[in-house]
Amino acid sequence: MTSFQKLLRVATVLGFALVGATVLWPSRALAENAPVTLPIETVANYIHAVIEADRDVYTRHVVERLQTKGVVVASENWEQKNTLPLPAQFLMESGRYIAKKGLGIQYRLISLWPINKRNVAGNELEKAGLGTILTQPNRPHTGFMKIGETRYFQAVYADLAATQACLGCHNAHPDSPKRDFKLNDVMGAIVITIPVGQ
Ligand code: HEC
Repeated sequence: MTSFQKLLRVATVLGFALVGATVLWPSRALAENAPVTLPIETVANYIHAVIEADRDVYTRHVVERLQTKGVVVASENWEQKNTLPLPAQFLMESGRYIAKKGLGIQYRLISLWPINKRNVAGNELEKAGLGTILTQPNRPHTGFMKIGETRYFQAVYADLAATQACLGCHNAHPDSPKRDFKLNDVMGAIVITIPVGQ
């Protein structure tokens, strides 16, 4: 092949590529705006990530910081004592807040060994979830259930004893039915409930 033929071939390929890109461009733009559907597991994972981030930031940058500086402590009876809510109570409060919004989304902490007797599994799926995550803490236990005519997706995520503070408080709390939690043990779960129509 002469060098002229080679040049011609390259030019032809480039030409086709250019025409192709021009013809395909509008359909690509359309595809970008096309409606998407996300797996409900992904939606739950996103919500879980935000809940975890908020609790972590609240614990480290509000509770621990103000406590270290001697400004104010967090304590269980925060409403009467003018203290800060505990991180678990912060999570529960924001869960109650979102429940009032009427979106149908709910989240809360539950456990097999709850300090607050209200924080037990609310149905069979949550009960099964608390069992499953003991041996498989790395992924949520998920499923569907119905309340009235509405169908819900539920995801039960393991809540681990990430720091010594978790152990110190739960193992010593007068209302705690379990006193031998160790680091990285599953202490309970964050359960997220999302309505998915009829
Ligand atoms: C200073 C004490 C304290 C610390 C520290 C603490 N908790 Fe709790 N936790 C509580 C109290 C009190 C409740 C009950 C809140 C309520 O009334 O719903 C609770 C609730 C929970 C629940 C729901 C079940 C239950 O026991 O009622 C889970 C799960 C939980 N905490 C996990 C953790 C984890 C994980 C950590 C560490 C990242 C942690 N807690 C740190 C005091 C504490």
